[in-house]
Amino acid sequence: PEYCSQIPEAWRFDCYPERGVVVTEEMCHARNCCFIQHSQAKTSGRNGVPWCFYTPDYPSYELVSIADTEIGKVGKLLRNKKTYYPKDIDELQLEVLYEEDYRLHVKITDPTEKRYEVPIDVPVIQKRASSNPSYTVDFIKEPFGLIVKRTQTGTVLLNTSIAPLFYADQFLQMSTSLPSRFIYGLGEHRSNFLHDVQWNTLTMWARDVPPMELTNLYGVHPFYLSMESDGMAHGFFMLNSNAMDVALQPAPALTWRMIGGILDFYIFLGPDPSSVIAQYLDVVGQPAMPIYWALGYHLCRWGYKSSDKTWNVVKEMRNYGIPQDVQWNDIDYMDHALDFTYDTTNFSTLPDLVKDLHRHDQHYVMILDPGISNSQPSGSYWPFDEGKKRGIFINDSNGDILTGKVWPGLTAFPDFSNPDTHEWWYQNLKSFHEKVPFDGVWIDMNEPSNFFDGSLNGCPENELENPPYTPGILGGTLKAKTVCASARQKISTHYNIHSLYGLMEAKATESALRKITDKRPFVISRSTFPSQGKYSGHWLGDNRSQWKDLATSIPGMLTFNILGIPLIGADICGFGGSTTEELCVRWTQLGAFYPFSRNHNSIDEQLLMLKYTHTYIYTQKSLFVLCFRFPNDEKTYGIDKQFLWGKSLLVTPVLEAGQDHVVGYFPKGLWYDFHTGDALVSSGEEINLQAPIDKINLHLREGSIIPTQRPNTTLWVSSGQPLNLIVSLSEDGLAKGDLYWDDGETIDTYEKDQYAYIFFTVEQVEKMHNTRLLNDSASILIFSECIAILS
Ligand code: GLC
Repeated sequence: PEYCSQIPEAWRFDCYPERGVVVTEEMCHARNCCFIQHSQAKTSGRNGVPWCFYTPDYPSYELVSIADTEIGKVGKLLRNKKTYYPKDIDELQLEVLYEEDYRLHVKITDPTEKRYEVPIDVPVIQKRASSNPSYTVDFIKEPFGLIVKRTQTGTVLLNTSIAPLFYADQFLQMSTSLPSRFIYGLGEHRSNFLHDVQWNTLTMWARDVPPMELTNLYGVHPFYLSMESDGMAHGFFMLNSNAMDVALQPAPALTWRMIGGILDFYIFLGPDPSSVIAQYLDVVGQPAMPIYWALGYHLCRWGYKSSDKTWNVVKEMRNYGIPQDVQWNDIDYMDHALDFTYDTTNFSTLPDLVKDLHRHDQHYVMILDPGISNSQPSGSYWPFDEGKKRGIFINDSNGDILTGKVWPGLTAFPDFSNPDTHEWWYQNLKSFHEKVPFDGVWIDMNEPSNFFDGSLNGCPENELENPPYTPGILGGTLKAKTVCASARQKISTHYNIHSLYGLMEAKATESALRKITDKRPFVISRSTFPSQGKYSGHWLGDNRSQWKDLATSIPGMLTFNILGIPLIGADICGFGGSTTEELCVRWTQLGAFYPFSRNHNSIDEQLLMLKYTHTYIYTQKSLFVLCFRFPNDEKTYGIDKQFLWGKSLLVTPVLEAGQDHVVGYFPKGLWYDFHTGDALVSSGEEINLQAPIDKINLHLREGSIIPTQRPNTTLWVSSGQPLNLIVSLSEDGLAKGDLYWDDGETIDTYEKDQYAYIFFTVEQVEKMHNTRLLNDSASILIFSECIAILS
């Protein structure tokens, strides 16, 4: 029909998103959709204009009633025409919760049968926000639509009326227009920081794979932040853990396509980008303050063949005076890759190595994988024997322990959704800690990764394994390189909670460490989900020793920065393949600015107090994203080759081979070269900077004061070193800064008021006292006497 061709291409919503099929007119008409072949798109779906798309009057739900409640509204939705997916839920309950002036919460559920909901703690609100929230909500009755606008500007933040709503047992779909093409978040993917809205589908389902574009990776984060056209920002969080696609299209619009759970979402009104993140963290949980040494230098390798070899590396680092806070071991330390054991031949001196590290105020972290060997002689391996007895492993759909395969061979997988598993995990960690007094734990392979697809025996054929719609998952099936979707866990099927495995393991590990060490737990996890920051940090997985991987580490870091996992880094110098000296030098320069720096470091670092302060202030809106500090400068919106440490330090690394210059963007204002104090005045322009191999460009924004400390080989020792302040005066002679400080390891120092938070201000008077000029320019000053003031 003619109205089909009148729908602009950018506004065509895909009626045939199934992968691997070339949709024909017949197939499309069977779904009662418009069919127009498009030359630029060979197949429907993924990266082009859909050939098969909804008609404007496509059947959806009707809002048949709506009433006021204490917190908002409750409505009833009815569908009277079936969709093309089985088991439509014809009647739905709509709850609109005006939770805060800046936060709207919407839940659409099945009123007759309880469906799976994500088991994370979110605020429970009893009373409605004020009568004057920053948003308005309008309802369209038929077809049902929800429109949310920003009161102040009228900007439409959500409009679900642009495509039909689906709510079938295994297929939930909701589309919305977006106020701009500036959209961020939606991890974990390898992409630019600013997502491409040109028919770009981001699939989410936790997966072990060396990071590449357009695939689901280790973590799942259905949260986005969008910059509106006037410098304001809002956020959107879909609280759903089922496999899903998030389809972006140039309208700009976005479609959520999920294969289970409920529709449960939040809108955060900001209005500035940092407040959006803070409001999101109010819902999923504030990230934990890390133990201070977490911010230092970590050294790790897969392939230290013995504890003596590991120890030699530590000794060499000391001999050369290279800073190192933490030594790690990969699976090599284990006896035949068995968790909670160590190889008593090659790693016989491991306990002594750890004690030696402690004597030098250094720390030790080792890897643990979730797979527990199920094939050791009975009575010889407590973790499996006892786990089996307590019934804490994941079962297959017949109720037998599911067998997978990981490094130790055939394995069972602990079910971390079961509280008994947490106790068993704690007991294992505790008894291992009595032998090897480790300080932190690296939890890997927790997607969970399986060398089989599903299990040793494959998976049954059923609707969980073969849902009516499968998102664009790598491998094409839910079971690809993980356990069967139909496997049974304590709180639900694996189908529903697969992507929560890393979160739940991190929670178990964090609480075990708290009990064992009585200090802030240090946990680094490969798989992550919203609220992860409460329990662990994250590294970006199995990157490669390539320049491209160096560059993509920045958008990776920035994205996790907005997803509430501040302790983030990438393997410095690259994990897979061989690095070159030049790449490794450049990577080491950049890696010093990862919040979590696991590397071979050889440069002086004086900025750790600043890192600590930022980590603290993180929860109070300090982020690394350049554009968040300059929301009115649209030129910053796509920048992910530079980043800002907190408020004031702009980092401009070299990301390509053979360069001795680097071009960086400088938002309007006065910037000072951190190394020389030279001032640079930018009108909001790109500037070509010298970048010889031994230099990373750092610039201080005008008007800031940052604490520095003379570096030493470990943070502990250096914390006794003199403190300095670097002041970069604004044009009118002012500067401000702050420092958060505590003992670096006690749990909840902030909550218990056991910290110092110091604010500095400098005002230039005609004659300056107590100051020492860094160079001839009077603009950057070091206050050398400050240690006295602080003590
Ligand atoms: C996984 C991890 C990697 C680790 C390896 C061996 O590939 O991502 O960091 O070195 O397993 O344990």
